[in-house]
Amino acid sequence: MSMAHKKTTYQYLHDKFGDHAPDFELTLKAELVDEIQTLKKTRNAVVLGHNYMEQVLYDTIPDFRGDSLALSRQAAQTDKDVIVFCGVKFMAETAKILNPNKTVLIPSLKAGCSLAESITAGDVRELRKRFPGVPIVSYVNTYADVKAESDVCCTSSNAAQVVRLTLKKWKSDKVIFLPDEFLARNVAQELGVSIIIPKKIASAGTRTARGQLVGWTGRCVVHEQFTTEDIKRVRTEYSDVLVFAHPECSPDVIRASDFSGSTTAMINEVNKHQGKPILLLTECSMGDNIIASNPQTNILRLCMVRCPYMNQITLKDTRDALKYMQYQVHVPENVRVKAEIAVQRMIAI
Ligand code: 13P
Ligand code: SF4
Repeated sequence: MSMAHKKTTYQYLHDKFGDHAPDFELTLKAELVDEIQTLKKTRNAVVLGHNYMEQVLYDTIPDFRGDSLALSRQAAQTDKDVIVFCGVKFMAETAKILNPNKTVLIPSLKAGCSLAESITAGDVRELRKRFPGVPIVSYVNTYADVKAESDVCCTSSNAAQVVRLTLKKWKSDKVIFLPDEFLARNVAQELGVSIIIPKKIASAGTRTARGQLVGWTGRCVVHEQFTTEDIKRVRTEYSDVLVFAHPECSPDVIRASDFSGSTTAMINEVNKHQGKPILLLTECSMGDNIIASNPQTNILRLCMVRCPYMNQITLKDTRDALKYMQYQVHVPENVRVKAEIAVQRMIAI
């Protein structure tokens, strides 16, 4: 938020969001924004905001905005004492893994993730027993104990690259890729390798099982909802529409789209196609945030789904996070040390 021309926060919000947000809401949010900005200084805190945050929060309080990878990088670099993560728990945990001596706060304990909840550290240990010597790549959308059992992490912006490099570096003919089934299938499609998704670990076979990628059955509750039928209907109505989809969508949806990439990669792609109608198949706050920063952007609204977890992070809870220093993210040191190896390998790539 640039206040160079000395507008009050309320005036700024009113000018930017006044067309579609009621005045009482903006008044309340302006007060919260001012409080948070003051608390940030008192606590020597940095606020990291994921691209899926609601538009007023996203526009005002984060010192850095971005996708999971960019925010991990920012978390690794900060010299502040306190990191407030306006995102979900696995992201805040990643910040803590990289900054054991800093206080990391998440504004709501309900900000989970269906992918992170789809797999346990015990599941990963079982897979390792089934596939001895096969490297394990875990999506960053996992909890710290799962990362600790993994060899490398990746995000949606570097998943294929991480798998390619892991196959090469480990001199392995296989990689276990956890826990997002669709991302795994999309990576396999991009790399032109075969994939198996065992229904249960017991049926995962052995190291000789066919398939260069061994996946898992996790799904994102947001992205699994988009279908090729949605795309077909929109293309019928808007013949020149460009469809950009997050790689957590199904392989069919990705094949039917014009572009697939991380949240930040999608934003960059939108910026390259100003004026064209664009359909974003991802959490719908992101469309709001793109339009807020560039009202000329022609984003079609297919706002069927908000992420129920990202949606937990509000300005009020962020104010309370800084005011009461809650909720502090803790990662046991033995887990953190192992998880950091996997996260640092990802950052290095
Ligand atoms: P990005 O890394 O693309 O921001 O994705 C995070 C996420 O949770 C998408 O659902
Ligand atoms: Fe998890 Fe999906 Fe929400 Fe991202 S959008 S945080 S993957 S549930």
